[in-house]
Amino acid sequence: MNFRKIVIAVDGYSACGKSSTAKAVSAILGYRYIDSGAMYRAVTLYFLDHHVALSNPKEIARALKKVDITFRINSTNKSETYLNGLNVDKPIRTMRVSELVSQVSAIREVRIAMVEQQRRMGREKAVVMDGRDIGTVVFPQADLKIFMNADLLVRAFRRQKELLDRGQLVDLDDVMENIILRDKTDTTRAESPLKQAEDAIFLDTTNITLDEQVDEVVRLALSKIIGPQ
Ligand code: DC
Repeated sequence: MNFRKIVIAVDGYSACGKSSTAKAVSAILGYRYIDSGAMYRAVTLYFLDHHVALSNPKEIARALKKVDITFRINSTNKSETYLNGLNVDKPIRTMRVSELVSQVSAIREVRIAMVEQQRRMGREKAVVMDGRDIGTVVFPQADLKIFMNADLLVRAFRRQKELLDRGQLVDLDDVMENIILRDKTDTTRAESPLKQAEDAIFLDTTNITLDEQVDEVVRLALSKIIGPQ
């Protein structure tokens, strides 16, 4: 039997389980996982650490030339984000970065640079990429597009637990406030705003477990992989 290599785009709102789902699906299918949000977070970390003025396009262009983002698989088979050769998987998940990332990812020059890299990473197919504009802008021809959302409170609880698991205790109100703000910035920005692609399948994760989300996406993926050539 012939199996097709496909591109799977997982988009949706902040903290609704996109990354966890995309990660697990890619492991089951033996696909490459690319966390596009991590790329915007790494750029944000660089901008913060180098005091790049977000209002200065020249400074931004100069800084972007110095930003090299890669993903490496660690000893436990987990994909980790590297910024200029340094593992930044932990610092990019801090509130310091979360608070600025929506602003940074709304900058046109930043998006152009990241989208170009993301397309290059997906050229070979057999990839699961999650983000906000994967099905609409990065891979409008993706074979399978998923768009996820969940109730705000559920998202906030999940993100708070995720932070706690990483050793950060953050007030639920602060987590919720950050999610609300990011939803607003992500959906209303001029450049590639977050929206569901017309041909995306909507998945509400409020009342389902991670395993159920993963099963559903794998089922949909297999129907494309094994489906008519
Ligand atoms: O998925 P995440 O929460 O780690 O993403 C961080 C931010 O990056 C999010 O607030 C919006 C931005 N982002 C984006 O604009 N486009 C993407 N494809 C992925 C993330």
